[in-house]
Amino acid sequence: MRVAHLTDLHVMRPPSVGELTVKRMLGSANLYVMGRASHFTEAAQRAAVAAVERLAPDALLCSGDLTAQALPAEFEAAAELLTPLFSRQPTALIPGNHDVYTPETFLERRIEERFGAWTGKGDWPRLHLLGDGVACVALDVCRAQWILSSGTIDEGQLDGLDTLLGDDRLRGRFVFVMLHYPLRNRRGEPYGPATRNLENAAALEALLLKHARRIGAIVHGHEHHGFRAALVGDGVEIPILNPGAAGYAYLPKKGRTAHLCVYTVEDGALRGVDRLRFDGEAFVPEPGGAWASGG
Ligand SMILES: [Fe+2]
Ligand SMILES: [Fe+2]
Repeated sequence: MRVAHLTDLHVMRPPSVGELTVKRMLGSANLYVMGRASHFTEAAQRAAVAAVERLAPDALLCSGDLTAQALPAEFEAAAELLTPLFSRQPTALIPGNHDVYTPETFLERRIEERFGAWTGKGDWPRLHLLGDGVACVALDVCRAQWILSSGTIDEGQLDGLDTLLGDDRLRGRFVFVMLHYPLRNRRGEPYGPATRNLENAAALEALLLKHARRIGAIVHGHEHHGFRAALVGDGVEIPILNPGAAGYAYLPKKGRTAHLCVYTVEDGALRGVDRLRFDGEAFVPEPGGAWASGG
């Protein structure tokens, strides 16, 4: 079974004057005055979608940041781009911090208005059974913050995860645990800084290690230059996989482009990881293998 993984497409549209909260004013200055908007392009976003369509995977994981500022126009454009793709195969989607950018978008769960068929509804964590042999345990650790972009996982979700990872429906399946934030950095150290990390990642890691033998891989986004790490415990090692942003502009002089991953799962084990990179026109296999070229 082949499972594709897209993250951090960051579909962006400028806000109208009425939509300019203070946070969006600062965010828009960063995007549209300081030039961060040019870090993401429609060419890369459309090529990523075309690549997954061509790959025709058995399932799709999408680990958040569909939008830049959680604006209605951004969700509309993201829905236009992604609805046909998400409908093709079983798909599991979680919000990223940019999809819950302001208190209203967080409280309204705006992402679920357009994408509820793939986020699911109700309490987190959420279980997605993706075909016969694979499951995704989806976490939501994002929150709307004044300026910072750190996340948190509350006690209720930790308790729910503890229960869910013991659930009989996971038996015999390869289990992806999907969250938006990294647990580890590219050197295998706890991910930081505190302004943009998962503040209580240690509590989540301890719980994941308790259930390590039930978990096949941890997948995430948020850090736009992809990398592979591992969560290492007593005699166990869980791969942690981040393709890198799928909407990143093709800027070869800056060593930056868009990526996506395809995981091959057979007999309950991860048999292969392929990473594709955007060459300015299409997504092609990364030379040398997954993450061989760095971020
Ligand atoms: Fe992002
Ligand atoms: Fe993010």
